[in-house]
Amino acid sequence: MENSECILEARDIVKDFAESVGESRRVLDGISFQVRPREFLSIIGPSGCGKSTLIRIAAGLETATSGEFLLDGKLVRGTDAERGMVFQKYTLFPWLSVKKNVMFGLESSGRGDDEAEEIALQWLQIVGLEKYADYYPKQLSGGMQQRVAIARALAPQPRILLMDEPFGALDAQTRSQMQRYLLEVWKNIDITILFVTHDLDEAVFLSDRILTLQANPGKVREMVNVRVPRPRNPESLFLPEFISTRRHIEELIHPKAEDSGDETFNIVNMVGKK
Ligand SMILES: Nc1ncnc2c1ncn2[C@@H]1O[C@H](COP(=O)(O)OP(=O)(O)O)[C@@H](O)[C@H]1O
Ligand SMILES: [Mg+2]
Repeated sequence: MENSECILEARDIVKDFAESVGESRRVLDGISFQVRPREFLSIIGPSGCGKSTLIRIAAGLETATSGEFLLDGKLVRGTDAERGMVFQKYTLFPWLSVKKNVMFGLESSGRGDDEAEEIALQWLQIVGLEKYADYYPKQLSGGMQQRVAIARALAPQPRILLMDEPFGALDAQTRSQMQRYLLEVWKNIDITILFVTHDLDEAVFLSDRILTLQANPGKVREMVNVRVPRPRNPESLFLPEFISTRRHIEELIHPKAEDSGDETFNIVNMVGKK
């Protein structure tokens, strides 16, 4: 792949965590992949396979034991405004209003108050929350809080948005609304998204490609192309491409039948019976 087709590159990422004195455990073992400009790329794999660790290394919140991430060909070091991050846990500052939360990243990247406020209000409009600018996070639902978190991450105009199970704490209906809403934002602005999930439907619904990982230690199984046509809507879940892609990913990440107690396995079974 030529450089112009690659915005973020993972090169042979290895991560060992210390277990006890003198002992360490390999969590990520030689992860390499490339993300294309404007792509929606998801990382999926069983719980504990190192998805959060991997995206935290990309964000600069964690350091790799060896290997590196490159953004636009430049080595990623620490956090900066080029990489926006949204987590599963609600991470808004409870003591700041919605508007001030969005302004926070802008001010720390050197904008004055007035400019930061103007940009924050524009982003709140994009996520449909301009009426809530002066509310506090606890006055908003979980889905609305995550929309503010998305506005906060996007306001400094990062090159890439990194999302770690951002809808994992939401109920099923809000979650699927948020997925459609995220696709709408992604379609309308020039942004690349790297999205971690363990939910098969979510990964297939959102992504252009899906990087599947296996666990212990975390390794790349396969990069899967998702050929489900866009725009996607709830009906997309019943398209043959959707069902076959999900089956394929299911086999990659849960190869054994003893995983039948797993929620994702049951979803596949339910749809299979329709
Ligand atoms: N700071 C840490 N110290 C030690 N072990 C960790 C740390 N963070 C994660 N781990 C371990 O690394 C493995 C991968 O964790 P994680 O990246 O959170 O996986 P996932 O997000 O795929 O569920 C898990 O076994 C977890 O216990
Ligand atoms: Mg995780």
